[in-house]
Amino acid sequence: MSYAYQITAPGGPEALQRVERGLGAPGPGEVRIRHRAIGLNFIDVYHRTGLYPLPLPHALGMEAAGLVEAVGEGVTHLQPGDRAAYASNPPGAYADVRLMPAQNVCRLPEAITFEEAAASMLKGLTVQYLLRKTLPVQGLQAGDFLLWHAAAGGVGLIACQWAKHLGLKLIATAGSDEKCQLALDHGAAHAINYRREDFVARVKVITEGRGVKVVYDSVGQDTFERSLDCLRPFGLMACFGNASGPVAPIAPGMLAAKGSLYLTRATLFTHLSSRESTQAMADELFEVLANGAVRAPVGRVRPLNEVADAHRELEARATTGSTVLIP
Ligand SMILES: NC(=O)c1ccc[n+]([C@@H]2O[C@H](COP(=O)([O-])OP(=O)(O)OC[C@H]3O[C@@H](n4cnc5c(N)ncnc54)[C@H](OP(=O)(O)O)[C@@H]3O)[C@@H](O)[C@H]2O)c1
Repeated sequence: MSYAYQITAPGGPEALQRVERGLGAPGPGEVRIRHRAIGLNFIDVYHRTGLYPLPLPHALGMEAAGLVEAVGEGVTHLQPGDRAAYASNPPGAYADVRLMPAQNVCRLPEAITFEEAAASMLKGLTVQYLLRKTLPVQGLQAGDFLLWHAAAGGVGLIACQWAKHLGLKLIATAGSDEKCQLALDHGAAHAINYRREDFVARVKVITEGRGVKVVYDSVGQDTFERSLDCLRPFGLMACFGNASGPVAPIAPGMLAAKGSLYLTRATLFTHLSSRESTQAMADELFEVLANGAVRAPVGRVRPLNEVADAHRELEARATTGSTVLIP
């Protein structure tokens, strides 16, 4: 028997229930993977609360690393015994072992531990597509300023390091002075405690009135409008999350009034639509992890049976880096 954590209805952390189940052999295009480490992500909260609805009941979890136990017909890039990691649909990573479509499962280089992979696969692939593929019309060149909210979180600490590696000046925001220091320690050029400081005014000072070329905003509701005020003309507002709640509908005219701005609402899963694009993105991530340009931001490591408490901690803004769950 294997086990997983699922929800039968949207709710608080108490909605997560452990279930025992039998698992068969992988079907065509699938692998069976035994998890060694599982990544906790804010999207797991959106799935649990119903902000991103799932057909119910449904197991949760989007990211894990472990050992391939069996491969189904047609799977050629993985073999039993391979170390592997993934960050993709369908949810179900909160489990000791699972069946998974092989398309988004990648072989994990020896240089990266299971915990590091669980801390950085989903979040690092996200930073990859944001910093490398979600760009303002003029692109990003070394020395350019960008603004990154919640920079001491799991995605954020990878972004600080990767931006520095690319020669970019990342202006971090975070919810405490300790978190700001952590972002600076990971390569942010400047850090703003946005619970106590006006981040629009600080960005203006830091950029000598010009504004940034791009804002990467995963906080959503609480920061959206003020983020637009941090952009220079033709700048890009890249929304990619809703930690404080979803952004309300806007009138496009607002983008004209604030300087012919561009707006996108991006998701990793569009970028992972094929085996080739998944592998190309993972290769870039594995390279910066293996050569030390980016250290996986392993924060708290806890047993999977504490997953409800791990959700509480994440929602309370009480974590830094990535939480890793061990089955
Ligand atoms: N679209 C995509 O492709 C994609 C992929 C991965 C992640 N994401 C998004 O990226 C964000 C970061 O993900 P993560 O898993 O690494 O989480 P995380 O950053 O470790 O945690 C979320 C952080 O958001 C900040 N926050 C601000 N207001 C908040 C509020 N009202 N409630 C809770 N948190 C609040 C907190 O940092 P402070 O205390 O410093 O404010 C908190 O630590 C999430 O919004 C997630 O949905 C999007």
